[in-house]
Amino acid sequence: MKVKKFLFSGIAAALTAGALLSTSALAQKDWPTKSINLIVPFAAGGPTDSVARLIAVPMGQALGQTVVVENVPGAGGTIASTKVARAAPDGYTIYLHHMGMATANALYDKLPYDPMTSFEYIGQVADVPMVLLGKKDLPANNFKELEAYIRANGSKITMANAGPGAVSQLCGLLFQSRMGVKLTNIPYKGTGPALTDLLGGQVDLLCDQTTQTIPYIKDGRVKAYGTTTLKRLPAIPNVPTLDEQGLKGFEVKVWHGMYTPKGVPKPILDKLNAALKKALNTPDVQKRLADANIDIVSQEKMTPNGLKTHLDAEINKWGPIIRKSNIPD
Ligand code: MLT
Repeated sequence: MKVKKFLFSGIAAALTAGALLSTSALAQKDWPTKSINLIVPFAAGGPTDSVARLIAVPMGQALGQTVVVENVPGAGGTIASTKVARAAPDGYTIYLHHMGMATANALYDKLPYDPMTSFEYIGQVADVPMVLLGKKDLPANNFKELEAYIRANGSKITMANAGPGAVSQLCGLLFQSRMGVKLTNIPYKGTGPALTDLLGGQVDLLCDQTTQTIPYIKDGRVKAYGTTTLKRLPAIPNVPTLDEQGLKGFEVKVWHGMYTPKGVPKPILDKLNAALKKALNTPDVQKRLADANIDIVSQEKMTPNGLKTHLDAEINKWGPIIRKSNIPD
């Protein structure tokens, strides 16, 4: 009798589990049935936000649902990363972040998430160069003059950034470390608002991505002192690299990746990856990224494994550099 009861309850449990399994398999098959939230870890109007908004529309078209961008700025992107790590693993929360996902580890004593275990990976997206910019009426007209101006004025000079974990902060502090100077660093919630203040003359310097800055450099509304690439950029060929102006080997190229919380089922991750690839292969997206000197990554990098492998390598690359440069100041 007892055995029979046990057997019966065992069969009932198996049937329930089977039903649940098939329901969730069905849910995965039908996914998405509502809009998807694309979290951006910096303020609206900045470089990460722009890349996100550019791919959100074609990704939504590929998935048959709207992809809504949500800005969750603050603490160099770590507030958004924490939010995503804690979100439901149902595929309705996706996340676009840049290399701050790799550098935050070395910048913060303790993070509430682990970049290597708290997320699923959809794929790498694009690589963006940076430029060291100055406000229009800064007396220095080139890098040599900037160097002299910095030596004469030191901490009277202000440099904007988007907080620890932001690439503007990494670039700015690596620059100060290489120059052996300490400027006054001003944090913002993203380089969108920081660039607005640079254009308005409220802050002196900003190391920013090319996403928004090229038109301002071309029409002289900001001064460009050097690129963070080892080769000059086709969109602004007259701007020398920092490397060629004496900061040998100075290179910061900002890569982006797309993530979900840990535990999103593979069939949903596959759909997200296919939608990302489709979006990045759209001619309009390719043109708009190329105009901003942004390189779309190879098909191989546009994969979960391509992103995970790169993230791991970047954590190992930047940790020692950040510690050696005494960042944060
Ligand atoms: C932004 O989108 O505001 C930037 O990517 C912030 C930064 O990392 O500098």
